[in-house]
Amino acid sequence: MIELRNLWVRYPNRDKFILRGVNLEISTDGIYLIVGKTGCGKTTLARVLVGLIPHIFYAEVSGEVRVLGEDPIKNGPGTLAGKVAYVSQNPELFISSITVEEELYLPLINLGLKPESMKRRVEYVVKTLKLGDLINRSTLELSSGQLQLIALASAIATGAKVLVLDEPLSRLDPDNYIRFIKALSEVSTGRIILVFEHHLDYLVELANKIIVLKDGTVAAQGSLDDVAELLLDINIPELLEYAVIFRGRGCIDRIPKSLNEFLVMIENAIKHKECVV
Ligand SMILES: Nc1ncnc2c1ncn2[C@@H]1O[C@H](COP(=O)(O)OP(=O)(O)OP(=O)(O)O)[C@@H](O)[C@H]1O
Ligand SMILES: [Mg+2]
Repeated sequence: MIELRNLWVRYPNRDKFILRGVNLEISTDGIYLIVGKTGCGKTTLARVLVGLIPHIFYAEVSGEVRVLGEDPIKNGPGTLAGKVAYVSQNPELFISSITVEEELYLPLINLGLKPESMKRRVEYVVKTLKLGDLINRSTLELSSGQLQLIALASAIATGAKVLVLDEPLSRLDPDNYIRFIKALSEVSTGRIILVFEHHLDYLVELANKIIVLKDGTVAAQGSLDDVAELLLDINIPELLEYAVIFRGRGCIDRIPKSLNEFLVMIENAIKHKECVV
């Protein structure tokens, strides 16, 4: 369970509050896509949720935040260890070990787990994320996309029930992009996964809910159908752009989640409706 009540955040020496009264409640497991234009405060919100703000990065913060019953604003990131995992926009800053295998074991050692439990968890993430080809490599020779996959694997291995992923897709090449999306859907059962992104391809299909940040608050939340118009000024898939136009013309009555669905809907619209496509 995640609850935000009237969250305001302002960085030092700045006049403007970046977050201006954010209210949000997430009580069911699944994938939540938090979107908004560059600079709207996605990373800021992610950092508050995991206690990095104000404990590591200073900012003036007011309001209430509860993540799995813990108060990250008051108690900092340490209280969330093993419960909440954070994957940064810049994973190389957080990678600390020489081999991928060590990188996966290190947080588990810090959590004080038994050796069999550590081994089981590492084997699970290697299998689920198909990391067999990377496990014995040096982290120094991996691409930033591969490092992002390792950071996700490491977060999952901790057993965290809440994953906070800040722009996990920004550095991935097409192959790793698909690999990452598949991995997310495989591990979403029993977890709350918050994905802060402005690359929306594939993710909009996967997300249980989309939350739109604008002007420092939650401007809308709901299904793709509910928030489609607000996505138009973000980095949205072209398909969505067309779908919003066609829905506006009355050719289709909801926003399709995939290209196939879109094509079937348009075909039906042409057959059955007076609709100029
Ligand atoms: N440590 C800081 N001190 C002062 N201003 C900051 C700091 N960190 C971020 N900002 C400013 O706060 C605003 C919100 O930044 P944030 O990184 O949260 O946005 P974002 O939505 O994650 O953007 P992007 O999509 O580019 O990652 C930006 O204007 C940014 O310049
Ligand atoms: Mg950001």
